Amino acid sequence: MSDAPTFLTSLAQALSTMSLYPEGHPAREGIVDVAYGHLHALQKEDRRVSFSFLGDDVVFGDRPIRSLRGWDWSNRLAGAGIQRIEFETEVTRQEFDDFLSQVLAKLTLYAAAQAAQAGQPRHGGSPIKFGQVGLREMESAPQLATATVALSLHEEAETVQWMHEETQGGHGLPLAEAEAVVRSLAAAMHGDKAIVLPLLELRRFDEYTTTHSLNVCVLAMGLAEWIGLGARDVRAFGVAGLLHDIGKVKIPLDVLNKPGRLTPEEREIMNRHPVEGARIIMASEENLDLAAVVAYEHHIMLNGGGYPRLDYPRECHQASKLVHVCDVYDALRTNRPYRAAWPPAKVLAYVEERAGTEFEPDVAQRFLKMMEEWEPKPAALEDQSAAIPEPAPAAAASAPAAAPQG
Ligand SMILES: [Fe+2]
Ligand SMILES: [Fe+2]
Repeated sequence: MSDAPTFLTSLAQALSTMSLYPEGHPAREGIVDVAYGHLHALQKEDRRVSFSFLGDDVVFGDRPIRSLRGWDWSNRLAGAGIQRIEFETEVTRQEFDDFLSQVLAKLTLYAAAQAAQAGQPRHGGSPIKFGQVGLREMESAPQLATATVALSLHEEAETVQWMHEETQGGHGLPLAEAEAVVRSLAAAMHGDKAIVLPLLELRRFDEYTTTHSLNVCVLAMGLAEWIGLGARDVRAFGVAGLLHDIGKVKIPLDVLNKPGRLTPEEREIMNRHPVEGARIIMASEENLDLAAVVAYEHHIMLNGGGYPRLDYPRECHQASKLVHVCDVYDALRTNRPYRAAWPPAKVLAYVEERAGTEFEPDVAQRFLKMMEEWEPKPAALEDQSAAIPEPAPAAAASAPAAAPQG
């Protein structure tokens, strides 16, 4: 017998199970099947199914569900802005799975942002167990969503910053949170009718690694999608983009944020970040070998230049080639202490000019086409208080013409 409380309870069980098991795991697939079955049965009577979460009360259609009064999941959802879930028509199993994944991503992000604000370390295990949990808004498949996408990446940015702090503190890479950020960004890219690339503008120089990681993640997912990869691969490229500079947590801050040209010794320290990054990723998570490869290779040029130097030159992974071009694009379009941001047209001309030497020509061409077709859209961090200063003209002038440190 399927009814509304049965469906909602199975929905909550599915979300809990999904936070513990990776995609494709039988336990996870099983419980999603169960919840999907209950939804399907519920829609036999009326295909349009809606729930409202009003704190302690859950309303099905226009009737409160008495047996779910005080249900903690209702509070979680409502407390953070999901007041309503609506299925206007029947959805496929895949659409239902995507919907649940996005809800879970938001729960994870919200919990991580709360932990970051409270300065708490990660407790491990399920990301939805600690702190106050909730969703800011629905950003999911068109049939399911009732709200529009606001391109504010505040929670994503906080989560990434916190991930970097966790990694710096030797706690290992918070993988669930990294994947939640990627899912959320993927949803933001597809929230409108047209695909957009939500790119953050840097506000403070010390936020560079955070905003840059998010931007490279968005661009890498965009490019992976543009060349026709499937959703799972696109997300794997997104995780690789998000983590490509994770090795920078090992670089001393005075070198990382130095307002001027690096000395040869400092340059050598800086150039260790790909190797450090690959090491951190490999030590944390064996399933992330693609991200580890990309972290290692993202500064290696097509002609063998860049770093680290390979004793036996070989072709880099396709994902590394993609992330490389996205990385340079974002680095050059951003204000740095030693150089003013380049206008987008100048950056694109640079990418075109370096196709065949630094960049794989095909990858560079596809990147340029994508940028022509899909609109890069400014995304906001909520707090606008600390505006970034323009770099001093002297510093900008003395910098080398093109030395992206992405
Ligand atoms: Fe980078
Ligand atoms: Fe880098």
